[in-house]
Amino acid sequence: MYNSLIFSEFVFLQIHVFINTCIYKFIILLILASFTLACSNTPTPPYAAILYPDDNPSTEQGVELGSRLFSDPILSADSTISCQSCHLPELAFTDGKTLSVGINGRIGRRNSPSLTNIGYLFRTMFWDGRADNLEAQALHPVADPNEMGGDWPTIITRLRHHDYYGEALKDAFGLSSLREINPDHVGKALAQFQRSLISFNSKYDLVLRGEAVFTDSEARGFNIFMDEADFSEDPEIKALPVSECAHCHIPPHFTNQQFFNNGLDEAPNLTEFPDLGRGTVTGNLYHNGLFRTPGLRNVELTAPYMHDGRFETLEEVVDHYNKGGHYAENRSANVRPLGLSDRDKTDLVTFLRTLTDTVFVNQYTSAK
Ligand code: HEC
Ligand code: HEC
Repeated sequence: MYNSLIFSEFVFLQIHVFINTCIYKFIILLILASFTLACSNTPTPPYAAILYPDDNPSTEQGVELGSRLFSDPILSADSTISCQSCHLPELAFTDGKTLSVGINGRIGRRNSPSLTNIGYLFRTMFWDGRADNLEAQALHPVADPNEMGGDWPTIITRLRHHDYYGEALKDAFGLSSLREINPDHVGKALAQFQRSLISFNSKYDLVLRGEAVFTDSEARGFNIFMDEADFSEDPEIKALPVSECAHCHIPPHFTNQQFFNNGLDEAPNLTEFPDLGRGTVTGNLYHNGLFRTPGLRNVELTAPYMHDGRFETLEEVVDHYNKGGHYAENRSANVRPLGLSDRDKTDLVTFLRTLTDTVFVNQYTSAK
């Protein structure tokens, strides 16, 4: 029975790889086509629209309220930690630490992910996908003893009595009295703010819009990242190695939002991962050691890397993939020794740096 499970997973993976390969080509074509059509002076995000939930449409008021709540330690038990303590705008909303440090210096178990373009992640939230959406996600850190250590009744009482938040929450959600304010309203406001964190002015975007050109090294890195050797007729491109990266890190956000084992830990059997990841959420043994593929926008700013922050630099990350990672029965078939040369590895990293959007980052840094 177990073998047939593995076999069906294998077939699924092969189909999946094929579909992904087609999909990212198609997405790039769509992006290029939409630019040809839209000849406006102000660039707009080249993405499909964000799905705003019916019961929480974004309003100017709600986004402003969410922005204030995000950077205000009022949501933590002892008013020392805000969302922003672990999601700093200048680091593309990460914290630069291996594992996050919350209230009273308590060390969490995972690395703080970037919130760049988080509104486009419509599947699940967190490394293990344990929250369904941004509204639900925002309720977790406030009550998490390792993060903000608060209890909701106390926080809500504080907000009701606060000069600004009481009235602002009431107005933003059309409540008739302060007594109606509840944690869901806080979650909604924070979600609205986070859906406004849209980055689309990286060098990569400028190149797609025809407003910049890649250097030779960036272009080579891009072609390796996208496995262009498999598709191009150009002999120079055909001679490049493939990296398999874009099976999982699909443009435009460089994630397919799905869960994989990318070979971080040797696991002779599926119960031996130091962090069971997706498996703790689904209870499926085969999901142990799987984590959600992170988006790579602004990845240059979001070190250290992986769910446990084990790699300090992008060079280390690329070395990891080049070696093919460590054995686990459910390691993805796309994580395998790649045989990249030093030049290939450098070019891959150079390409990843084109995903940095300083316009985006500075917008929030200077606003604070
Ligand atoms: C103590 C540090 C810390 C604080 C405070 C904190 N976060 Fe996080 N945040 C993290 C870590 C670590 C993760 C990843 C946890 C995991 O996946 O298990 C995370 C994950 C997230 C995610 C999911 C991102 C994704 O890609 O799935 C969102 C959204 C988020 N935080 C928003 C917030 C908001 C909103 C607040 C304030 C209410 C907040 N965070 C407070 C550290 C923190
Ligand atoms: C099979 C899918 C898959 C492939 C192929 C893949 N990745 Fe990943 N990548 C992931 C997953 C899943 C993670 C998170 C793993 C974890 O933390 O446990 C990740 C993490 C990363 C990170 C860390 C990002 C962060 O914010 O911490 C970088 C950078 C990265 N990958 C780049 C690459 C590059 C470059 C390639 C090609 C050489 C590649 N990936 C190939 C799935 C994949």
